[in-house]
Amino acid sequence: MPSPNPSRLREGDIRSDFPGLTRGWHYLDTAATAQKPQAVIDATVNAMGRDYATVHRGVYARSADMTLAYEAARRRIAAFIGARENNVTFVRGATEAINLVAYSHPKKGRVLLSMLEHHSNIVPWQLAGWQVDVCPLTADGCIDLDAAEKLLTPEHNMVAFAHVSNVLGSPLDVARAAGIAHRVGAELLIDGCQAVPRLPVDVAALGCDYYAFSGHKLYGPTGIGVLWSDKLDTLPPWQGGGSMIDRVTFERTTYAPAPTRFEAGTPAIVEALGLAAAVDFVEGIGVGAIHAHEVSLVASLREQLARKNSITLYGPENSAGIVSFSMAGVHPHDIGTILDESGVAIRAGHHCAQPLMEHLGVPATARASFGVYSNDDDVAALIDGLARVERIFG
Ligand SMILES: Cc1ncc(COP(=O)(O)O)c(C=O)c1O
Repeated sequence: MPSPNPSRLREGDIRSDFPGLTRGWHYLDTAATAQKPQAVIDATVNAMGRDYATVHRGVYARSADMTLAYEAARRRIAAFIGARENNVTFVRGATEAINLVAYSHPKKGRVLLSMLEHHSNIVPWQLAGWQVDVCPLTADGCIDLDAAEKLLTPEHNMVAFAHVSNVLGSPLDVARAAGIAHRVGAELLIDGCQAVPRLPVDVAALGCDYYAFSGHKLYGPTGIGVLWSDKLDTLPPWQGGGSMIDRVTFERTTYAPAPTRFEAGTPAIVEALGLAAAVDFVEGIGVGAIHAHEVSLVASLREQLARKNSITLYGPENSAGIVSFSMAGVHPHDIGTILDESGVAIRAGHHCAQPLMEHLGVPATARASFGVYSNDDDVAALIDGLARVERIFG
């Protein structure tokens, strides 16, 4: 585990680690997907080239080495979130993690979601046949846990909330949510997609039952993510195939213990090694330092946006790394297109959160989101670009 070196953020040299960050380009869409540091690119190139072989099957040395590397990646990623390796299942991403729980859970009953959830924490529950209830938000756009406490009944067997909203940046008090869910006998699934890259996460301390996240938002590759749970053994297998079995006959099949039983087929070997390299990269700076860095960028951007009469800001003051806004009389897509002409990349749209858009009374918002490489120049470029939008539409 590397020792954290937060000074790299202060010195501003971190951008040189990211070949995707071309000069003059202001990337403010890290909540959609993070740019990749060279260390992650190198790890995936080596895993796909020099070191490539399958895992868990080969009797030859290269495959045995790759199996060790794949399982070491699991240990590395587990340690990063305070977990035991056997409780970490590799999946394609948060979407697949939530589908896995929604479909394989033996008691598909009532689930309490919140108004701010990403579609990937709504649709799987609907498709798998759960009865969905919705928890409202506080005035500043956080999940209203007082309301959750009143809404929950012993009929609920699941609560599924985002740790950080991908639209509003609202952070959740997970420990409190866990207490509220457990009091009525429900389990708590946390969608940690936007939290893991920007907040220190220790699943043991959080007290939730399931924690899901995607590697590509944590500076790792696409096609890999994590479902953590200390009750994986209570879930029956979800997808069947090679690797997840103990013994197969035409009459009866028995399954491998978790987490292997959830990893049917040849796994995302290259991506798992890439994600472990991403975890090394993030820990080399320190998640606490990344959080502090993003907090200061959010404060600066929110303050400058608040000075503009044309702008409506959404989400709480303490939003984690993400700022959503709209401009009077201008569609967010037009904002995004004009900003792009000045080399500023933001996200404009419903952010896969249509129920939240309906709640906010808008079809879409503009969203700027920060990462480890974001800096004051990016904020200044966004503010200059918005002045240009105002001139064009003014
Ligand atoms: C809060 C949240 N949950 C879930 C997802 C889905 O992640 P993925 O598409 O990587 O599965 C996202 C992606 O934007 C997200 O922001």
